[in-house]
Amino acid sequence: MLDVDAVHVHHGAIAALRGVSLNVREGEVLSIIGSNGAGKSTLLKAIAGLLPLSGGSIRYCGEALHDQPPHLRVRRGIALVPEGRGLFASLSVADNLRLGAYSRHNAAAVASDLEQVLSLLPRLRERLTQSAGTLSGGEQQMLAIGRALLARPRLLLLDEPSMGLAPRLVDDIFASIAEIARNGVSIVLVEQNARRAMSLSMRTCVLASGEVAMQGDSAQLRDDPAVAAAYLGGL
Ligand SMILES: Nc1ncnc2c1ncn2[C@@H]1O[C@H](COP(=O)(O)OP(=O)(O)O)[C@@H](O)[C@H]1O
Ligand SMILES: [Mg+2]
Repeated sequence: MLDVDAVHVHHGAIAALRGVSLNVREGEVLSIIGSNGAGKSTLLKAIAGLLPLSGGSIRYCGEALHDQPPHLRVRRGIALVPEGRGLFASLSVADNLRLGAYSRHNAAAVASDLEQVLSLLPRLRERLTQSAGTLSGGEQQMLAIGRALLARPRLLLLDEPSMGLAPRLVDDIFASIAEIARNGVSIVLVEQNARRAMSLSMRTCVLASGEVAMQGDSAQLRDDPAVAAAYLGGL
């Protein structure tokens, strides 16, 4: 579904991605783990079209993405939930959700998807009229995911969804992500919480200093002493 081939991305003089290749299959969850500064967020932004490539290519459903602006990628089914969530704090929960559907014109389909999102993320239903800035961290993360789902993605890019959340809310977020995956949405899951991410995904890619250090079967990587020592706080 998604083919990232030898991708290079620079932030000014800094080479944040140096020849990254990976692929995402239809309906799968792919975890991306790696230390701070490894290039995980840069990779998601490059897939979403927020950063230009300085080399390599990204293909989605067989077509090159490189000349497509972010809004066209959203329309083709790629939605990013950015690190830090990117919500509009003074707008209501309902308005933030509606913004996720801004490029869609079928009001009935949007209303039915909204209903589905609210059953998946029930905490949001009680808070529809509240401004987004007054939500707790976990609720804001759910809102950010809900907003992305209203774009009807086929490929959802999640940047550290569990960051800063209390353990119980981390459980809720991972349960919601598993449910979204069961509904057939492909997911690229960037997580510091590597163990949790790997237990939810079939395959994992380890980024280090802008390169793919390892990739493969999540269960196998989880049992690899080198991975455990570097990313899982020991076995
Ligand atoms: N806007 C930016 N300007 C300059 N350098 C950046 C910017 N964003 C990220 N970087 C650098 O690019 C590298 C990769 O960053 P990032 O993709 O955010 O890593 P991660 O998400 O894995 O922590 C780091 O060295 C970081 O300092
Ligand atoms: Mg990051």
